[in-house]
Amino acid sequence: MEFSIFSGQTNDVSADCLVVTVDKAGTLSAGAAAADAASQGFLAARVADGDITGAPGKTLMLPAVAGVTARRVLLAGTGEGTPSALNAGKIIQAIAQSVASVKGSIAVDLTALASDERPQAWWAEQLVLAIHSAQYRFTATKPAKEESPKASSLIWIGDDVSSALTIADAKGLGTSWSKDLGNMPPNICTPTYLADEAIALSESAGFNCRIYDESELEEMGAGAFVSVAKGSVEPGKIIIMEYKGAGDAAPHMIVGKGITFDTGGISLKPGAKMDEMKYDMCGAASVLGTMKTIAELKPAINVVAVITSAENMPAGNASKPGDVVTTLSGQTVEILNTDAEGRLVLCDALTLAIGEYKPETCVDVATLTGACMAALGKVNSGLFTTDESLADELLKAGQYSGDKVWRLPLEEDYQAGLDSNFADMANIGGPLAGATTAACFLSRYTQDTRWAHVDIAGPAWGGDGTSKNSTGRPVPLLTTYLLNKIS
Ligand code: BES
Ligand code: MN
Ligand code: ZN
Repeated sequence: MEFSIFSGQTNDVSADCLVVTVDKAGTLSAGAAAADAASQGFLAARVADGDITGAPGKTLMLPAVAGVTARRVLLAGTGEGTPSALNAGKIIQAIAQSVASVKGSIAVDLTALASDERPQAWWAEQLVLAIHSAQYRFTATKPAKEESPKASSLIWIGDDVSSALTIADAKGLGTSWSKDLGNMPPNICTPTYLADEAIALSESAGFNCRIYDESELEEMGAGAFVSVAKGSVEPGKIIIMEYKGAGDAAPHMIVGKGITFDTGGISLKPGAKMDEMKYDMCGAASVLGTMKTIAELKPAINVVAVITSAENMPAGNASKPGDVVTTLSGQTVEILNTDAEGRLVLCDALTLAIGEYKPETCVDVATLTGACMAALGKVNSGLFTTDESLADELLKAGQYSGDKVWRLPLEEDYQAGLDSNFADMANIGGPLAGATTAACFLSRYTQDTRWAHVDIAGPAWGGDGTSKNSTGRPVPLLTTYLLNKIS
């Protein structure tokens, strides 16, 4: 999308659609009032007639308004006073849905909504992201019948928010790519496919990229990773991409779970909705999406991105409940449930990458537990860390981006749940606090690194059984968090 800034009167802007706002009381914003005056009261008359109420999320599209240069006017309701985060989301979604398919240019005046908490730059960024979302279609395996029209340029009426627009566009690209990877069927999106995508991105962006294949990992002693990967004919891979924008500074590390299909293994999952376990690589998809955004923006930070990818299958040579394996760290694990495979592929990737790169911080993202989804639903991801300032950074990035996280406990008290009679630890705790015991397991592989775990089991995809879709989360969270490091 192309961007420009306009600082004149709304009624003068030449655009295919002009967006202006009206509040709950029916009061037109200054920009709406200017267009209203130019149209001899046409907008105010629509409000007086009750064609639009001014509630957040309401919109009214008016073609060919006399006296207004723009070809259409979209009147958008904004509710009462300064919008809450929830209402701000509704307003942005509604506007994006209405303008995403307007052919050509959109001019937007949301200046009446800006506050200290949500300045113009925030509205600009959220709108661009929402337009990307509204325009997103998955076409890789079911091509669209016809090209739908698309808004091609955005004219921001107000302050110079150019850099917010550029950043948002890059975040939107990364998020859409993450959605594509998540939605891709599991016969196409295998660990090898993810590795090829990482290589292609790295080549175009100038990242270093290193792929550890399954046989190499076996030789190195990554017994937990291999215990999962070995049951599939698709070879498992650990993928590491390195972006350097800040010389020799210790990097910030992001790590994604990339189980391209999770059957549960010998601890087989029930059949209903098992197709959704293609989304068990959404952590990996969001790490790739985040690196796409980084590639676009080339910020002054160092980032190491790690993807740990395998297919979890039942097979004659698959792991069995009761197997004991030795991890790359040397600690042993009794595999009591082969469906708790995410932590097994993550623990060796953490040992490998933390050992190699000594990162400043490490954040892993994983569709790790049904328990986390049961606790938080699809609104928040679960955040686990004992590092208070890292927690603050991630909570703040979640609030700003709307890609929210909610902190759950990671206390020593829960560690005993992993005790095993036959190994240093079991790969599952009891039936209680499943999201926390999973985080406890990972914590044993992070040495003294500043580390946080984000369980995205709920937010990574949506669907009611008839339509399913990847959300691209947590690309907005990760990109906001990383870019905050430089500001
Ligand atoms: N990928 C699943 C977690 C999951 C389930 C994410 C449903 C999203 C929706 C993970 O590998 C898994 O199977 N976890 C088990 C752990 C249990 C065996 C301790 C779970 O949550 O049931
Ligand atoms: Mn599983
Ligand atoms: Zn899984």
